[in-house]
Amino acid sequence: LQVDVHPDKARPISDKLIGVFFEDINYGADGGLYAELIQNRDFEYSSADRKEWNGAYAWTLEGDGGKFTVEAGTEPIHANNPHYAILDIHQPGVMLKNTGYDGIVLKKGEKYDFSLFGRIPAGKKGGKIHVLLLDKDGKEVARTSVKITSANWKKQQAVLKVNADVNAGSLALIPQQAGTYELDMISLFPQHTFHGHTNGLRADLAQAIADLHPRFVRFPGGCVAHGNGIANIYDWKGSIGPLEARKPLRNLWGYHQTRGLGYFEYFQFCEDMGAEPVPVVAAGVPCQNSACIPGKLLSGGQQGGIPMEEMDAYVQDILDLIEYANGDPQTNKWAKMRAEAGHPEPFNLKYIGIGNEDLITDIFEERFTMIYEAVKKQYPEVTVIGTVGPFYEGSDYEEGWELATRLNVPMVDEHYYNTPGWFINNQDFYDRYDRSKPKVYLGEYAAHLLGRPNNIETALAEALYLTSVERNGDVVQMSSYAPLLAKEGHTQWNPDLIYFNNQEVKPTVGYYTQLLYGQHTGDSYLPSENRTDNPRADVNKRIASSVVRDSRTGDIIVKLVNLLPVTVNTQVNLPAGIDGKTATLYMLSGKPDDKQAKPTESTLEVNNAFAYQMPAYSLNVIRIPMG
Ligand code: AHR
Repeated sequence: LQVDVHPDKARPISDKLIGVFFEDINYGADGGLYAELIQNRDFEYSSADRKEWNGAYAWTLEGDGGKFTVEAGTEPIHANNPHYAILDIHQPGVMLKNTGYDGIVLKKGEKYDFSLFGRIPAGKKGGKIHVLLLDKDGKEVARTSVKITSANWKKQQAVLKVNADVNAGSLALIPQQAGTYELDMISLFPQHTFHGHTNGLRADLAQAIADLHPRFVRFPGGCVAHGNGIANIYDWKGSIGPLEARKPLRNLWGYHQTRGLGYFEYFQFCEDMGAEPVPVVAAGVPCQNSACIPGKLLSGGQQGGIPMEEMDAYVQDILDLIEYANGDPQTNKWAKMRAEAGHPEPFNLKYIGIGNEDLITDIFEERFTMIYEAVKKQYPEVTVIGTVGPFYEGSDYEEGWELATRLNVPMVDEHYYNTPGWFINNQDFYDRYDRSKPKVYLGEYAAHLLGRPNNIETALAEALYLTSVERNGDVVQMSSYAPLLAKEGHTQWNPDLIYFNNQEVKPTVGYYTQLLYGQHTGDSYLPSENRTDNPRADVNKRIASSVVRDSRTGDIIVKLVNLLPVTVNTQVNLPAGIDGKTATLYMLSGKPDDKQAKPTESTLEVNNAFAYQMPAYSLNVIRIPMG
């Protein structure tokens, strides 16, 4: 392979090409990124979340001498949180236990914030409750206590310091006096969270995402954003404010969203990582304009969207979101709530997604247009990202493009999950795009045969394709692999980028493709000609290159991908002026079915023209410092 680079023809490309798409799928949020350790802390689980669940899910009462019920009684903490636990204790000694999400992980020497809301009903007695953290055999590793005597809901807080490592522990509450205790929002958080925030994120998982150097985060979905039915649309207002006032939501992937990880926390996470927030709101229609089975296109059936008479209010909700992110707390109610949550400065929201792979019906068009025009008029500085949905036969991709082009929407969100072969054979996908049309956000993509785990073959197919995304970085403004996270034993979708359990984070090989691209982005593209002496197009398609310059450092970054089973002798001809530089070489390689490979780092002496033996099945990132 000979790569002749033409720096004189350099052209600007998006500096936001690599980002992440976070959706609460596969227990990505509760039990995942959100660091809360207590499952069903608000007693709001119900059979609507999952057939076999109820308000007591994840809680058990051990011992005789007491009764534990969950009720939607009088004067709950908040109307959005109507259920609470009632503990009737006749004989002290019983314990109310919560085993978290598959057990609670505790680290020796670390501190944990415990809190609950409690009250004692009129005419009943209360008292002290011992709060214990136990290992899997029931041995105590930390203890504190709280006192519940007030007739009104009162928040009690305590800190527990753990004296042993525990992999699958539990929390136990042991009332010390006979009486009736009403309890809600029973919570346990590690003090060690990502960037140390209270109500924060699991440090190791968040760090794995931050290591990708994402330039943006799309949230909260996917299908989760537009919901399964109108009532299930993700209402951002229900996800902010005090935790006890947030509105839990059925997760259409078959579980429960506490929304403790809500819009404030999403914005904060973006800020911590230096990533642009890209919230996605429903376009006034739920999944498939009706109810849907996530991931499947349904045709026919009853269709509908938010009733037109309610659309003004819905549009206002979206405008309020922009105020929540960017507005002045002195003059705007929503911006004031942001300030009260601890962030008086704006979050500088620049993008908003409207819709998620929706059917492009009249119902959709009417509502999308209304929202789009209102945002454009009131906040012209915010880029609206429309949806053209999934790219495959029978989808509404063409209709989506037709509408977006007609309305002159600045950018559209495209999705495709395809075989490695598709990615290899379609590297010209964006070369063919009409530059006068909307820009593209490739919001969801992955190379796989459905269900098959990520391996070097899929990771390199994505790497190969990303060279074409960089080449077309004038059209494609952003891209994100999907889905991002998956908890072992709780996955609704495979494969995913990062698997995890309570103890470990397990990035896939595909993660390292994202990481090498994310950490080595550029903002100008240096076109190059690739020549090989092999006449076979099918062979040549399996090697690709991309050269970019990062204006912040001045570095030139050469990416070379080889999906052939043989070493490819490569000659790179670069601009003059880089004789005798020591470059850093990052390489990801392995056998096609390798699922464990990790990038290596070494140095490489480079000149204007240098030879490089590109190993079989490899992604090579050569970063040349120009300073
Ligand atoms: O990424 C998983 C799902 O795939 C998303 O929720 C949806 O947008 C798509 O169908």
